[in-house]
Parts: sequence; C-alpha cells; structure tokens
Amino acid sequence: MAAPKFVGEVEWPVTIQLGKGLEGAITCHSRIGYVDGEKGWLVYRGYNIFDLAEHSTYEETAYLLLFGKLPTQKELDDFKGKLLGYRKIPQEVIDTLKSLPKDCHPMAALRTGISVLGCKDTKADEVTVENDTEIAIKLISQMATVAAAIARIRKGQEPVEPDPSLDHTANFLYMALGEKPNDLMIKVMDISMILHADHGMNASTFTCMVVNSSLSDLYSSVCAGVGSLKGPLHGGANERALAEMLPLKDEEEAVEYVRDAIAKKKKIMGFGHRVYKAYDPRAKVLGKYSQEVTERMGMPHLFKIARKVEEEVIAAYGERGIFPNVDFYSGTIYYALGIEVPLFTPIFAVSRVAGWVARVLEYLPENRIFRPRAVYVGDMEKEYVPIDQR
Ligand SMILES: CC(C)(COP(=O)(O)OP(=O)(O)OC[C@H]1O[C@@H](n2cnc3c(N)ncnc32)[C@H](O)[C@@H]1OP(=O)(O)O)[C@@H](O)C(=O)NCCC(=O)NCCS
Repeated sequence: MAAPKFVGEVEWPVTIQLGKGLEGAITCHSRIGYVDGEKGWLVYRGYNIFDLAEHSTYEETAYLLLFGKLPTQKELDDFKGKLLGYRKIPQEVIDTLKSLPKDCHPMAALRTGISVLGCKDTKADEVTVENDTEIAIKLISQMATVAAAIARIRKGQEPVEPDPSLDHTANFLYMALGEKPNDLMIKVMDISMILHADHGMNASTFTCMVVNSSLSDLYSSVCAGVGSLKGPLHGGANERALAEMLPLKDEEEAVEYVRDAIAKKKKIMGFGHRVYKAYDPRAKVLGKYSQEVTERMGMPHLFKIARKVEEEVIAAYGERGIFPNVDFYSGTIYYALGIEVPLFTPIFAVSRVAGWVARVLEYLPENRIFRPRAVYVGDMEKEYVPIDQR
C-alpha cells in the first residue's frame, strides 16, 4: 500500500491521534484562523476575536478573512460598494422561495435559494481564484438577502428591497424585520456576525472544502455547508438552546431543567465543544451583550434564566471542560431583538459564509481532492448466493 501523502509538517507541538469524528485529524495548512481550545482563544488572521468584536465591523472582518489583511479606507469602501452592488437577488430566487411549503425549515429554504442563485450565475462553473473571489463576495452579500426574504415569505409578507443607505448588517436586519433597526440592534447583531464569521475546521467549513476540492462550483460548496450547519450538533443548536429555555419561568425551573437533563443523560444544547475545553470566547462576548440587550428590551428574566442554566451546567460538567458555546447566548440576543427562533441558524449561515468562502479560496491554488479512508471491518470472502437459493 502506498504511503499516505501528508499535508506537511505541523509546526506547533501537537499529538496527532485520529479519532472518531476525525478528532485530531489535520486537513491542510491555513492562515485564516486559529482556535486554541485550552486557552479559550480565537484569532482571525492573527487578530484576537475580542479586539475584532470591539473595534471591527462585519464587512471589515469579511475582507480580513478573504484577503488576509485589514483593509485601508479605500479598500473597505470598494469592498462595501461591491457587496452593495450585489444585494438584489434574481426574481427567480424569490419565486422559488414563495413556492416552498410554508412549514419548510428556513435552512432548507436558504439551501434552495443559494442553489437557484448558482443556476442563475452563468460563470458559476468557472473555477478560478479570480472568478470564485467574485462569487464569494456575491454570496456574502446575497445570502443575507435570501435569508431576509425567507423571514418575510414564511410569514406571508413580501420581501423588502435592500436599502443602499444602510451597511450590510443594518440592511440585513431591515430586510428581515421590515423596519429600520436602532443603533443597539445594529451594533449587537454586527458583533454577533463577527463572532460567527469563522471557526477553524468545523463540520460546515470542512464540508464546503470537501465539495470544492472536487473543483465543483462555489454555490454547490456553500449549499452543502448550509446543510451541515443546519444540524442540532452544529449551528442548529442555537434554535434548540433557546427553544428549551423559553418555557422556563424562573431560575428554579432552570435548575430543574439542567438536573433533569443530567439525570436523563441528555445533551444540553449550547454547551460543549470538540475543541474548546475552556470557556468559548465568543460566548463570553455574547453573554455580556445578552445581559444588556435583554434588559434594554424588557426581558431581563431571559438572561437570568440563561445564567442559572450556565451556572448549573458548569457546576456539573465544568471539570470535564463543558462550558457554554457560541450557540448558547446568541439565541437570547436574537430573541430579544425580535427575531423568530427558526431564523437563528440562517443568521449563523449569513455570518459564517465569510469563513467558508475564505477557506475554500485559500485551498484552491494548492487543491487536492479530499479522499480519506475508512477502516474496513466487514467480511472479505463471501460466496455469492443466487436469489432463489437465499
Ligand atoms: C458540540 C458537540 C457536538 C461536540 O461533540 P464531541 O466533541 O463529539 O463530544 P461528545 O458528543 O463525544 O461528548 C463528549 C462527552 O461530553 C458530554 N457532552 C458533550 N456535550 C454535552 C452537552 N452539551 N451536554 C451534556 N453532556 C455533553 C457527552 O455526553 C460525552 O460524555 P461521555 O464521554 O460520558 O459519553 C457536543 O458538545 C454537543 O453535542 N453539544 C450540544 C450541541 C451544541 O451546542 N452544538 C453547538 C456546538 S458550537
């Protein structure tokens, strides 16, 4: 058997142990972002997530992920101009979204909408870094429009036309909610979008890269990423976490909820992570804003319940490295902002698309198709028995 072709030497000291769910497997080199699970640290292109959340914007962060550097004012203006120019989506996408069953999950609708965007792009199959960079910018812009249209159509309302006077996040909220968001809403949603923009070789990012590694088109890769993110073990956890907390009336019920889940050995949504064994830095930032937003929107009890759930889970599982992840507090924020629960995961996708496309584009020049193997544990030498003798 030929020796496996390694991606290169790994420069930091890690023990590589291939485990279930590819735990410990290394797929490629990357300069895009790094998750330090022991320290509870996240960097994008060398910049700490706390600094980006405090000082950057989603547009600037998307540029950073895609192009590897913070933009100058002119570069940022040009990038924002491109995003703005691409905001409007073809009527066929809206017609298709309207034709879907009313109870279709918004992530399934988003996947479908992106697929139609790809069908409408005559250059979709031109797989070059230059062309895919343009499609990447288009997708960052248009996925927000598709998700907002889904938010409206599922309630029987007409999609809202993009407003060119608003930046990306403000325009997204405006199109999704049908009214101009206030400054607090824009700020908190923008921070949340920055925090969700990239996160190492997570399932949906890896999915996008696997699909693109066959030199398929970027729309197909991102559709697959949406499919992966939809699951409750990944992005879908934000909906589940909030849905489980909403019926809880007070802190006492929060304690009961956690104790009951522990007794039944049920996973508590919004907690735990494959890489973080320390507190997820994104949850740290979102926890702080959850308190502010829920108080300002007249829902302080929601934050108190969430905090109680957190305290109980950490008391029980903290020693095992189980802490809140990004999906725990994001839902409380979106809910307080007036966003419906089924839209939480599409919002995650609208943010994460920047990381998906950046990583696909980084891999493209050195592309090699992903093709792992399984340890075969089945039979080898069975004799074929004709159907009439079985
Ligand atoms: C994120 C997640 C999928 C990581 O999965 P993983 O690395 O494969 O870890 P495992 O599911 O194997 O969990 C390891 C152990 O921790 C426990 N655990 C992990 N997350 C837990 C949670 N949220 N609640 C309770 N126990 C949890 C598991 O039951 C398992 O215990 P065991 O060793 O006694 O069997 C997992 O933590 C999870 O399912 N969390 C809830 C969903 C969620 O919030 N997802 C969003 C992630 S950003």
